[in-house]
Amino acid sequence: MSRANLDKDPDEVAAMFDGVAKRYDLLNDLLSLGRTKAWRKVTTATIAPKPGMKILDLAAGTGSSSAPLAAAGADVIPSDFSEGMLAAGRLRHPNLPFTKADALNLPFEAESFDVVTISFGLRNTTDVDKALGEALRVTKKGGRLVIAEFSSPTFRPFRTIYTNYLMRALPVIARRTSSNPDAYVYLAESIRAWPDQGALADRVTKAGWSQVAWENLTGGVVAVHRAIKA
Ligand SMILES: C[S@@+](CC[C@H](N)C(=O)[O-])C[C@H]1O[C@@H](n2cnc3c(N)ncnc32)[C@H](O)[C@@H]1O
Repeated sequence: MSRANLDKDPDEVAAMFDGVAKRYDLLNDLLSLGRTKAWRKVTTATIAPKPGMKILDLAAGTGSSSAPLAAAGADVIPSDFSEGMLAAGRLRHPNLPFTKADALNLPFEAESFDVVTISFGLRNTTDVDKALGEALRVTKKGGRLVIAEFSSPTFRPFRTIYTNYLMRALPVIARRTSSNPDAYVYLAESIRAWPDQGALADRVTKAGWSQVAWENLTGGVVAVHRAIKA
């Protein structure tokens, strides 16, 4: 992949994540100014995992989003379509049942899960509406969807500073620290192009989910959307 672009070809996205898998979590922490742990905590609290709860973690990467759910006793399946991410995840969390799955065409029966969740992955899928529809299909009636994703800071001056940071500083930091800077330029561009909180909520509703709501984190840098399958 010669440069970051938003015409996402699924194979290119998977290959890009294969390339950064090993150092991904560390870099992610650096680039998010160390806020990822706090964001993860709120996302986990929103999911409210408990023993016996069946949870599908889509685009789970190396399993950082799945591990806290398993620690709470839930039966979580970390899934991803990148072999590189899955391999790094299996090394890091040997007890978790990492499963190869494309979020756009899930290899699971209808109504299999109490909760389907996706952290920092929906933005990367090539067809967001299809991913939301597939998540709905595999969720049990009364089950829930929880999405953590970068979003739009709500305070305008902060939004300006943040956008400048994303477009200028983040790619520079990435170029110095990452073996695959394209992956991080792509990250910055894809965050900027992503729908804001209300627009994403509308798309979740259009995909068939009910009672869609969200919580802003770090002033809206990230939003955690939740919804119910009626
Ligand atoms: C930014 S990582 C997120 C990892 C993890 N959920 C976390 O919170 O740290 C995004 C992941 O989305 C995966 N991904 C992108 N499109 C996908 C798709 N259509 N199906 C499954 N995984 C996908 C990539 O392979 C990558 O591992």
